[in-house]
Amino acid sequence: MDAALADGSPPALVTNSTRVVVKIVRWMWMRNPGAFGKGKASCIGFAAGEEPFVVIASAAMLICGGNASKSTGKNTWDKGQYRRAAHYNITHLRRQSFYSIPAIHSSLLSERPFSLPKTFQAVDDAIDKNADIAEAVLTVGLGNYGVDPDSEDWKGVATPSDMDKVKSTIRQLYRDFSTEGAEERRASFEPMIEALNAATSTFPPSQRHKVDVLIPGAGLGRLVLEVCAAGYRVEGNEISYHQLLVSNWILNYQPNPAAHECYPWALSFSNHISRSNQLQKLMIPDVAAGAFLSHASEALGSEVHAYERMSMTSGDFCVVYKEAEYRQAFDAVLTCFFIDTAPNVISYIETVKHCLRAGGVWINMGPLLWHFEGRAKSDKERTERPADKDEGIGEPGSFELTDEEMVLLLQSYGFQIKAHDNKSHETGYIQDPNSMLKSVYRPSFWVAAKT
Ligand SMILES: C[S@@+](CC[C@H](N)C(=O)[O-])C[C@H]1O[C@@H](n2cnc3c(N)ncnc32)[C@H](O)[C@@H]1O
Repeated sequence: MDAALADGSPPALVTNSTRVVVKIVRWMWMRNPGAFGKGKASCIGFAAGEEPFVVIASAAMLICGGNASKSTGKNTWDKGQYRRAAHYNITHLRRQSFYSIPAIHSSLLSERPFSLPKTFQAVDDAIDKNADIAEAVLTVGLGNYGVDPDSEDWKGVATPSDMDKVKSTIRQLYRDFSTEGAEERRASFEPMIEALNAATSTFPPSQRHKVDVLIPGAGLGRLVLEVCAAGYRVEGNEISYHQLLVSNWILNYQPNPAAHECYPWALSFSNHISRSNQLQKLMIPDVAAGAFLSHASEALGSEVHAYERMSMTSGDFCVVYKEAEYRQAFDAVLTCFFIDTAPNVISYIETVKHCLRAGGVWINMGPLLWHFEGRAKSDKERTERPADKDEGIGEPGSFELTDEEMVLLLQSYGFQIKAHDNKSHETGYIQDPNSMLKSVYRPSFWVAAKT
C-alpha cells in the first residue's frame, strides 16, 4: 500500500490470510489534487491548491485529531484534538454547569442513586476509549500514506466541523462493524444482496467473480465486504478521507474480532432510559475481515480468492466514474444511503448509466434526506466559481426530488424499473435501538436495469 501512495500506482496485493487488502486503484489526490480544492473542500476541510501530501496528512490529522507535540519527543503524539475537544465540550463544560446549580441540588444528585459526577467520569473514560481508536487509525494512516509523524507539515487545528466528522465516523462503527448493528445492516444490505444474486443468477456462486460490482459512497466499507463475501468482484468508492482512513484501518489492520472498545452513544446525554444505555460498550470489529472473507470464499468454492476481488477508490463518484476508462465497466451498481448526498442527482444517474454495461442493474436502498437542502448559495458565491464539468459535487446548484419523481427520472434516462418499494424496508441509520427517540426511514428500494 505504501507503494501506491508513493507513486500513485496500485499497491501490491498482500495475501496474508488474516489481512484483507483494500486495493486502492485510484488515488484522486495524487493525480488531480486540484479537483479537491474545487469540488470537495467542504467535505474534508482543506483549501484549494494544497499539495497532495499535505492534503492526505490533514485528513489523517482531522479524522483522529492527532497532533504531534514538540515537548513529548519523536514518534509520539500529545493527546489528540478529538480527545481534548470531547473532554472539554462533553464533560468539562457539563461539570461547570452542574456545579453552578444550587449546592443543595448538586449534592443530592452527587449521591446514590444518581451519582452524576461518577457518570461524568464514566463518560470521560468512554471518550478515552473512542479516542484510542481515533489515534490508532491515525498511527496506521500516517504510515500508509507516507506521512512523517515528526514532520511539522501536516499539523494544524481541526475545525468544529472536522470534529463532528470524527464523532460521526466513530458512531458509524456501530452500523458497520458491531454485533449490535447487525439488524440495521441486515435491513438494508440483505434485500440489496438478494436482488444482486437474483439479477446475476446465471452465474453459480463460485463464478460470481465474473460479475463486477461498484458501490459508490461506501462509507466504512461493510457493504463492500459483504458483497465480496458473497463472491463478487467489488469496488467501493468513497469521497471522505475520514471514512477511508477508518475503513483502511478496520479492513486491513484488524486481525482479531472484538479487539477495541467503542462507546457510540456516550457523548450525548439525551433520550436515554438508563445510564447503561448511554454507556453501552461495543467491541469492534464484529468480524476480522480477512478471516471472514477466507471462510466465505471457501464456503462458496470461489474460483478467485477474495483478496483479488475487493478494492476501494477515493474521490468524487461523479468525477472518477465518468471517465472513459469506466465506461460500461460494471454489471451492477449498488447505492446504499447514498443518492441523497447529491446536489444534482442527475449527475449520479448519468454516472451510473455511464459505468454500467447494457443490461446491468442499479440496486438502490436509501432515503431522500437531501444533504444539500438549505445550502443554497448567494448570487456572489454562485458567480465566484464558474461551472466546470469535472467539479462533481462541487458543481453549482442543487435541487430535491420526491421518490415518485426519482422513478420518473430514472425512466427518462432509459432505466427499466424491475422493482420499486418505498414501504417495506423500515430501518434506522446509526440508530440506538434503546433510545427514547427513534428515527426510522422507509427507504426507497429499487432495481433498475440499464436498457
Ligand atoms: C450516508 S453515508 C452512507 C454510507 C454507506 N453506504 C452506508 O450505507 O452506511 C453516504 C456516504 O457517501 C459518501 N459520499 C458523499 N458524496 C459522495 C461522492 N460524490 N462520491 C463518493 N462518495 C460520496 C459520504 O462521504 C458518505 O460516506
